Amino acid sequence: MDNFIFHNPTKLIFGKGQLDQLKTEVAKYGKRVLLVYGGGSIKRTGLYDQVLERLKAINAEVYELSGVEPNPRLTTVKKGVALCNEHAIDFLLAVGGGSVIDCTKAIAVGAKFDGDPWAFITRQETAKDALPFGTVLTLAATGSEMNPNSVITNWETHEKYGWSCPFSYPAFSILDPSFTFSVPKNQTIYGMVDMMAHVFEHYFHPAEHTPLQDRLCESILLTVIEAAPKLVHDLENYELRETILYCGTMALNGMVSMGFEGDWASHNLEHAVSAVYDIPHGGGLAILFPNWMKHNLDVNVARFKQLAERVFHVDPAGKSDREVALEGIRALREFWTSIGAPSRLADYSIDDSKLDLLADRAIARGAFGQFKVLGRQDALAIYQASL
Ligand code: NZQ
Ligand code: ZN
Repeated sequence: MDNFIFHNPTKLIFGKGQLDQLKTEVAKYGKRVLLVYGGGSIKRTGLYDQVLERLKAINAEVYELSGVEPNPRLTTVKKGVALCNEHAIDFLLAVGGGSVIDCTKAIAVGAKFDGDPWAFITRQETAKDALPFGTVLTLAATGSEMNPNSVITNWETHEKYGWSCPFSYPAFSILDPSFTFSVPKNQTIYGMVDMMAHVFEHYFHPAEHTPLQDRLCESILLTVIEAAPKLVHDLENYELRETILYCGTMALNGMVSMGFEGDWASHNLEHAVSAVYDIPHGGGLAILFPNWMKHNLDVNVARFKQLAERVFHVDPAGKSDREVALEGIRALREFWTSIGAPSRLADYSIDDSKLDLLADRAIARGAFGQFKVLGRQDALAIYQASL
């Protein structure tokens, strides 16, 4: 493995009834709070009222930014930055899924940034500071609750990019599995695909000798594979929601990826698709990832074989390494299909008419991927195979 320094400053507050911690945590940062949320799910579930009650109890002055879109937009980030400046906001509180949290990260950094936030989102300029922010997570998927990453879409130019900086870690995140009971079946499935995809992005890395990291990754995959088929039929099961919520955080908070750089090519390919077609991130990954795997099988067949045997329990007897590896990829495809994830771009009515645009978007920041560096032709081949 490579040398590394690990530091994750986010305080994770997990479990039933933990929303009460909001009072102590927010009070540390000041009175003027910007509450950021999405299209209304928190009002329907009553979480909005519960959060406001806690904020009122500490006499917080609450301002609001609602309507953060799934695949959050640059325009909404700018609205939030303007609110921070107008009301001299001390602290931001994101209540929602990855989109709300990612948008809040960009607002928190944007409020301390002199210029257009797109400059640090596209990594043309470096962020130097941020307002502090915390999160109350309502959807298990991205890991954004305990990482510094944020993904923002510029809908005018159809560009969607991930960025991060040392100041974009949440100060704290409150995770109560019961807040995820109301996540609809499709979003629950996308979330589980996304967290598995994060593990795969880590698993396929170019470093050597990572036995513990491999097994940590495999543990998360096995746990999701065990819980997911039950959860899709039992959406209000506390133990299953708890398991999946914890898996989602662990899949992308740095704990399983110390000592190597993950691949992230499939995420790059997916972000291009959702930038152009505005599809759910997890849905896009379910379609693209198995095709990325097939495209890169020969880069390191042994790694795919290990995954097939240890996670998908493929019996290697009488088969070549390549056959075992391919059977593992098929098993993943079948598993995702069995829980209700999409398998083709056609499932989102996407045809071949914009493949060139997708490939242009995918290579907008140059060749991509670590396990195997991909270019435009690779992107086109993977999109083609995904139609
Ligand atoms: O907007 P509301 O009304 O809240 O509804 C949301 C939204 O429609 C709904 N939802 C969330 N919690 C709910 C709920 N509905 C009922 N009950 C609840 N408890 O679910 C819908 C999707 O929410 P969203 O936040 O968009 O989903 P997710 O958490 O999957 O986030 C997706 C975004 O995160 C980015 C993706 O690209 C995408 O933009 N990613 C962020 C990452 C990160 N920061 O580390 C990594 C990921 O790889 C990913 O790229
Ligand atoms: Zn993802």
